[in-house]
Amino acid sequence: MFFTRDVFSFPEALSRPLEAALWPAGDPSLLARRGQALRSLWERLAKGRGQTVEGQTHYSFRREEAEAYAAYYLPANCLKPALVLEESFLLGLDPLPAGESRWLDLGTGPGTAFWGVAWWCASRGKKLQFTGWDQSPVFADLGRRLSQPNPFGFRADFQTAKGEPLQLLRKMAPTHLSFVNSIAEIYPDPEKRLGEVEKLLKALRELERADGQKRSLIVIEPGSRESSRELAALKDKLQANRAGHISLPCLDRRACGALADPKDWCHEEAACEFPDWLNRLGAEAGLRKEALLFSYVVLHPSEPASSPARLRIVSQRLERKGQVECRLCTAEGKRAVRVQRSKATSENEAFLQCARGELWLDAQIGEKGDLERYSLPKQHSSPPSLFS
Ligand SMILES: C[S@@+](CC[C@H](N)C(=O)[O-])C[C@H]1O[C@@H](n2cnc3c(N)ncnc32)[C@H](O)[C@@H]1O
Repeated sequence: MFFTRDVFSFPEALSRPLEAALWPAGDPSLLARRGQALRSLWERLAKGRGQTVEGQTHYSFRREEAEAYAAYYLPANCLKPALVLEESFLLGLDPLPAGESRWLDLGTGPGTAFWGVAWWCASRGKKLQFTGWDQSPVFADLGRRLSQPNPFGFRADFQTAKGEPLQLLRKMAPTHLSFVNSIAEIYPDPEKRLGEVEKLLKALRELERADGQKRSLIVIEPGSRESSRELAALKDKLQANRAGHISLPCLDRRACGALADPKDWCHEEAACEFPDWLNRLGAEAGLRKEALLFSYVVLHPSEPASSPARLRIVSQRLERKGQVECRLCTAEGKRAVRVQRSKATSENEAFLQCARGELWLDAQIGEKGDLERYSLPKQHSSPPSLFS
């Protein structure tokens, strides 16, 4: 993200109510039990992508594992949707233009998205009505219990309605629909996933026509190569089929440049100092989180407002001997760009501190990738970001 150049601290206003909800006092063996459950859960999430294995009960229906999931992955992931909202906001593409949202989160687990979205809405003076939907009554119960103290003053509802999300969507008429780390579990087959997302976008378009309110579909996936490539391919197909319009992270209708190389992928990384109470559980399970790593797309059923930016840095800053390099997403595909320290000028020297996610209006780049000059959108400087 262009606004997370340095490590940011996990917000205190989020950490305090989360710690109170997740770590009730008076159970000295809780940390060890959760650590053990998390160790086996991690294997299935990281390697098996959480998908159901025949003959095995899914972790979402096993209380001990669902609670370990909530204790670790909820705080580790809840800021991802907030980062996506903040990026839109700072670019002047207000993600809640009406000042309020009816938000439906599919595959909500213990309500991970609720915490990040509610914190962001409270911090930005927006209102929120949140509904989380999941297959698991264990998670729905946990989501309700954790959010019950109502830390940000917004109502959260958790449902395990049977059947298709489409019925729920038509009933609720949400302004925002999200899948956070859940789309590949809910629709494991990428072809079926495409068909279902097309139906959801069509239903969102009908809602827009009926009440004139703008709609968004936010999909967040883990930042791994497989998950990120699947998300990029889904985005490309939705655009090719004219089923939806993208506002972020891609800057126009260009196909994903990362898919040109089977080993490549595009993702975000925002370094974060997580609270000690989360790190303690991680250490117990042999895990450590130092950043939010994810891929995302923000889709719309009708043409959205867009950022004037046309170029985005899609790699980390690569410090080489005598020069700095990065990979830039352009309308013609990805390309390597560099500035040699000895040739830095007032028009390109800021590039020596460039960061993943940075957006540029335009650039002059030589044949060998030497950056001569470039310009940033003016939104880069104001208002101050919530992530510092
Ligand atoms: C990796 S978890 C993500 C949970 C939460 N969104 C988060 O980011 O922490 C995936 C969630 O999808 C839910 N899920 C999987 N298949 C589903 C289905 N067919 N219908 C509804 N929910 C499903 C699981 O129960 C689980 O809560």
